[in-house]
Amino acid sequence: MRMRSTSLFLSCSLLAPTAFGLAPKGPWDAFNYAPTSKTVYPAAIREMEGTVTNSQQLVNNAGSATLSGQGTWVTLDFGVEVGGLISLNFDSVAANSSIALSFTESPSFIRPTASDDSSFPDASTTYDGVLHVPAPLPRGHWTQPAFSLRGGFRFLTIVSTAPQSLTISNVSCAISFMPHVDDLRAYTGYFFAQDPLFHDPDFLTKIWMAGAYTVQTNTVPVNTGRQVPFEPAGHWANNATLGIAGPIIVDGAKRDRAVWPGDMGIAVPTQFVSTNDLIPTRNALATMFSNINPTTGALPESGPPLSQLGSDTYHCWTLIGTHNYYLYSGDLEWIQTIWTNYTKAVAFLEAKVDPKAMLFFIRSY
Ligand SMILES: *[C@@H]1O[C@H](CO)[C@@H](O)[C@H](O)[C@H]1NC(C)=O
Ligand SMILES: *[C@@H]1O[C@H](CO)[C@@H](O)[C@H](O)[C@H]1NC(C)=O
Ligand SMILES: *[C@@H]1O[C@H](CO)[C@@H](O)[C@H](O)[C@H]1NC(C)=O
Ligand SMILES: *[C@@H]1O[C@H](CO)[C@@H](O)[C@H](O)[C@H]1NC(C)=O
Repeated sequence: MRMRSTSLFLSCSLLAPTAFGLAPKGPWDAFNYAPTSKTVYPAAIREMEGTVTNSQQLVNNAGSATLSGQGTWVTLDFGVEVGGLISLNFDSVAANSSIALSFTESPSFIRPTASDDSSFPDASTTYDGVLHVPAPLPRGHWTQPAFSLRGGFRFLTIVSTAPQSLTISNVSCAISFMPHVDDLRAYTGYFFAQDPLFHDPDFLTKIWMAGAYTVQTNTVPVNTGRQVPFEPAGHWANNATLGIAGPIIVDGAKRDRAVWPGDMGIAVPTQFVSTNDLIPTRNALATMFSNINPTTGALPESGPPLSQLGSDTYHCWTLIGTHNYYLYSGDLEWIQTIWTNYTKAVAFLEAKVDPKAMLFFIRSY
């Protein structure tokens, strides 16, 4: 079974993707971007500076590489977007050896001194900084601390930040998204449409499959949200609680890592067709209803800890999303639990209808 047998999931066997069976095998499988294992190793070396000996050994965990000198760095390419915690082995370190890690989705932001922005989008593009791993480095297997999880990246840069050289091996990323699913490639649906006249006949298929994988990367453990207030410049922290239950669907793997009901308008139909994994959607919607304004019936614009308020459009998206969730799941039992609050939220909108029976939105985004 792909789902872990917690009582929460068992109470909802209708939602178990296995009940629907997997998609047939076919040429579309070549465009399934999900990794075969939840432990992923670098697929290539992207860039280097300074003296890195045997860098190629870090590809697919072949052996050890040595970084010599302060400011020497090597950038590893995981081949696809990944997210989770980096582990590596410190095979040989001096008392003063130290490293820093920087992360980026795009190769344009590969830098030994900064990651791409995930905490706050600053014009400098250097808000997050790097994860410093100071001396003394522990010998043997090491895993980055949970708060420093990066939700979305493809390139990892390892920098020697001291004059003393160090030898490392076994660099990997333990994927943190879709924590309730073992086989990330087990899709229940697929899309395949060739366009023989376009320069890349598989272009549409690639876009659709990339969207499906994006939704998987947005399906995260409930305790891995971006911290709000944001960490000060030079830091990031993804250890905030995102809702009332997990796994939960958020708007983006790297940022914001919060529930945004409007984004779900696109993500949830994709989720239904690709993996039919609707529990993260139910958890996101349930979080919105539990945070309804008890006086006005207004629903929040985003989930916690961001908890933005005041969007009539996103208020509607929670209501539409609830309809979509019921349409895809038939989960009447859950609808009954939120029905009182659903009607309060509808009454909130009814109170905004003007005499000409037009909806009067105070905020349209
Ligand atoms: C290690 O760092 C300490 C403190 O900065 C310094 O006193 C010491 O000389 C360094 N040792 C070596 C071998 O560089
Ligand atoms: C999140 O991580 C930061 C940085 O280590 C820490 O200060 C904070 O207490 C953590 N918060 C939670 C909720 O674990
Ligand atoms: C290599 O890393 C993997 C993944 O973190 C870990 O399970 C394994 O124990 C490590 N190997 C050694 C020899 O430390
Ligand atoms: C319904 O709204 C109230 C606030 O009026 C909230 O305390 C409660 O948790 C909500 N119920 C559900 C099932 O979301």
